Order: sequence, then structure tokens, then C-alpha cells
Amino acid sequence: MSGVLGDRVAVITGAGGGIGRAAVELFTAAGARVLAVDQDPIRLPGPGVSVHPFAGDLTKAGVCSAAAAAAVEHFGALHILFNVAGISGRRFGDGPVHACTDQGWATVLDVNLGTVFRMCRAALPALIDAGGGSVINLASVLGLVGGGELFATHAYAASKAGIVGLTRAMATYYAPRRIRVNALCPGLVATPMAARALGDRATAAHVARMQPLLDGPLTAEQVAAAALFLASDAAAGITGAVLPVDGGWTAQ
Ligand SMILES: NC(=O)c1ccc[n+]([C@@H]2O[C@H](COP(=O)([O-])OP(=O)(O)OC[C@H]3O[C@@H](n4cnc5c(N)ncnc54)[C@H](O)[C@@H]3O)[C@@H](O)[C@H]2O)c1
Repeated sequence: MSGVLGDRVAVITGAGGGIGRAAVELFTAAGARVLAVDQDPIRLPGPGVSVHPFAGDLTKAGVCSAAAAAAVEHFGALHILFNVAGISGRRFGDGPVHACTDQGWATVLDVNLGTVFRMCRAALPALIDAGGGSVINLASVLGLVGGGELFATHAYAASKAGIVGLTRAMATYYAPRRIRVNALCPGLVATPMAARALGDRATAAHVARMQPLLDGPLTAEQVAAAALFLASDAAAGITGAVLPVDGGWTAQ
């Protein structure tokens, strides 16, 4: 199989969503075989030679173990884990700290940070068996800098900052086992998750100012392309990196 991912096997979570779906397409085009995981079976890509869909809720530890096992069972090994699954928690009660509900806090931390922890735990034995691998975690600019009035979801920010910390801790610990662990921090990306923000004129104008390279939102493909780089041998010397993909947001 040709392409920068050779014949490697990847698990991509959140594969029914905007960024996850773009990553499945890019990774398979680069030669990878992909276990595509999402809780929503309707949004998952259909099965094919290089894609095996897997429906399940990653807040359940047993589902994460089953997903990692299914990748090995179906494709023979596991080399790459791209943790994409996540939520915006407004509907569960996320908000600025004084208004954030216990449910909002617990749900957002469990889905955004908990699924990364559980999927890493489930996948690490297979990555070690393979002689090494690449883990890419999707954080956010909101895990690096404050979001002010317009992006006032503080459980979300804490969950993404937690992913940054987990990424660096894992990177140093697993480096001797040849497992690279990196994080991506996107700005605003045009996906279903960003529909509310982009539908609001003031927020859309703010995003255009914060992402001067693009004068608007990122595309899901731009984020997936950065993940492809980190998954490939072109990034063989890179671990513990926290890479903004943000059109200039955090440079300001
Ligand atoms: N869209 C943005 O502007 C933006 C910016 C920065 C970071 N991100 C992050 O990128 C990731 C993907 O976002 P997106 O914009 O593609 O959103 P999306 O809503 O299009 O996709 C997210 C996917 O994750 C899945 N998912 C959620 N909880 C799950 C669970 N418990 N188990 C299994 N699957 C689950 C959903 O079903 C959905 O298909 C998220 O982690 C998000 O926080 C997005």
C-alpha cells in the first residue's frame, strides 16, 4: 500500500463528526487502515477494504477496550490513535464557572478528557506490541488561552487544558517505548460543533479577527492534515508537541 502511512492501522474516534470524518478520508488515502469509532452509528462511514466502522460510547471503559481489540482483530495490529471524540457542553450546563452546573462540569470532563484517557489506556498495549506508535490528541486553543465572553465554557477549557497536560506526561513516559504523543489545538473549525458560534454575527466576526490567516473558520481537512503529519514518519522526531492549528489565534 502506498502513501505516507504505509500499511499502518489507526483508530480514529469521533469518526462520524466533522474533523474525524475528514481524518478517516485523509488517513485512508495515505495508505492507512482505519477503525472508525463513534457513538452515532448513522454518522459513521460505511465499511470498506480500509475502513471498519465501530459504534460505541467511549465514556464506557469496556467500549474503549473493545475498540482497541477490534482494530487488532480486524487489521492485525495498531500503530496510530487519533483521539477526536468530544462535545461542546453548553446543553449539559457548561458555562462560566459561576454558572456552570455540576452536571455540565462532570459530563464535559468525562467525555472530552475521560475518553482520551480511556482510549489511550486501552490502546497502549497494542502500540507497545507493535514496537511503537503515534497518539494524537485533539485539544483546542481554549486549552491554551482564555476565551473571554464569547467562548465562556470553562469545563470545556479545563478539559482541553487537561488533554495538553496528559499529552506531555504521556510523551515523556512512553518515549523509551517509541510511542510519540502529541496534541493539536485548533481554533474554530467549520463543523457541526461550531454551528452555533458561526451562526452568531459577533462571534463569527471575532473568529475572523482571531484567525487572520483565514479570515474565517478553519476547515476540518486543515486539522486532519496536521494530524496526518504527526501520525507519519515525517514527525518521527516529534513528541510532546502541542501544535496550534489556529490561523494565528494564539500568536496574538
Ligand atoms: N469544531 C471546532 O471548532 C473545534 C475546535 C477545537 C477543537 N475541537 C475538537 O475537535 C473534536 C471534534 O470536533 P468536531 O468539530 O469534529 O465535532 P463534531 O460534533 O462534528 O464531532 C464530534 C464527534 O464525536 C462523537 N462523540 C462525542 N461523544 C462521544 C462518545 N462519548 N463516544 C463516542 N463518540 C463520541 C460525536 O458523535 C461526533 O460524531 C472535539 O474534541 C472538539 O472539542 C473542535
